[in-house]
Amino acid sequence: MRTKITAAITALGGFVPEDKITNADLEKLVDTNDEWILTRTGIKERRILRGAGKGTSDLVVPVVQLICEKRGISPSEIDCLIVATVTPDMMFPSTANIVCDKLGIKNAWGFDILAACSGFLYALTTGAALVESGRYKRVVVVGADKMSSIVDYSDRTTCIIFGDGAGGVLLEPNIEGYGVMDSILKSDGAGGKHLHMKGGGSLRPASIETVTNKDHYIYQEGQAVFKFAVTGMADVSYELMQRNNLEPDDIAWLVPHQANKRIIDATASRMGLPEEKVMINIVNYGNTTAGTIPLCLWDFRKKINKGDNLVLAAFGGGFTWGATLVKWAY
Ligand code: UT7
Repeated sequence: MRTKITAAITALGGFVPEDKITNADLEKLVDTNDEWILTRTGIKERRILRGAGKGTSDLVVPVVQLICEKRGISPSEIDCLIVATVTPDMMFPSTANIVCDKLGIKNAWGFDILAACSGFLYALTTGAALVESGRYKRVVVVGADKMSSIVDYSDRTTCIIFGDGAGGVLLEPNIEGYGVMDSILKSDGAGGKHLHMKGGGSLRPASIETVTNKDHYIYQEGQAVFKFAVTGMADVSYELMQRNNLEPDDIAWLVPHQANKRIIDATASRMGLPEEKVMINIVNYGNTTAGTIPLCLWDFRKKINKGDNLVLAAFGGGFTWGATLVKWAY
């Protein structure tokens, strides 16, 4: 009989740049205030990757290095690198290719996944499937975004939310029942009109007009997204609990996408989880898009124990959303 292979998370990495933008800094740029931002979103500050010649790959490289260091492997032992991002260094080649080059990773293939704030869950599910197939032994999955590259710092409705950051995991085969256990992923392209970036793609390539129109920045209808996010993330997390016969007591941690503290609270409440079981770091980093979930895992790493059930949940542009159940392996 063939033993079932699961994809266990065997190492973590996280990285944020040093430079900060606080609510007080934003008060000088747009008509806003610390009290509004904190009560409406839960954010106090965000990290920003400054410096010419720095892109999302510069957030991913330290994450992959940390993962290798923690696991005691060399980058050349990685079989595949998947990078979830909406802010790739360039349209092509993929950021994964650029990172492999920067780290001298010669034995891996790699690609990017674009699913906005749900990017890490989409990439984790994909990476897990590669490991479960038995064909790949070491798959690194990173969520990373340099959101400051697409934020309009004169738009108070978006500039207060986003920040730069990255986190990632190493996936390896396991035959003891640890790792990625289940995943429910969803999408609805009809939501695209509420959250997107108009310019820079094949539909509206960069031109003087697109730059003048500010088409290379995030466009978000906050209230509409909020409405879908609040129900979408809570419903899918609850569905995952039901499908796996999990009671609130069976779950050690909810690891939610950090878009808005109010969306996180609604999800925890639907799942019947107290705040002590919810990983929250939005206050320090804002919304780092594909980076939020693995950055939470990295920040809370000392509080996760072998055998813990974690529910990872996200909602974002696309619309894309989903929830993933992970049994912690170490
Ligand atoms: O991760 C990707 C997915 N994205 C999300 O999940 C984001 C979802 N949306 C949200 O988190 C929230 O909608 C926002 C944080 C973007 C906005 O919060 P809100 O509670 O929905 O605010 P609102 O848009 O309903 O605006 C309320 C008021 C308005 O003023 P009036 O019309 O009531 O006078 C806005 O003009 O707040 C005003 N406002 C601000 N005031 C101070 C909007 N932005 C600001 C601001 N500072 N930065």
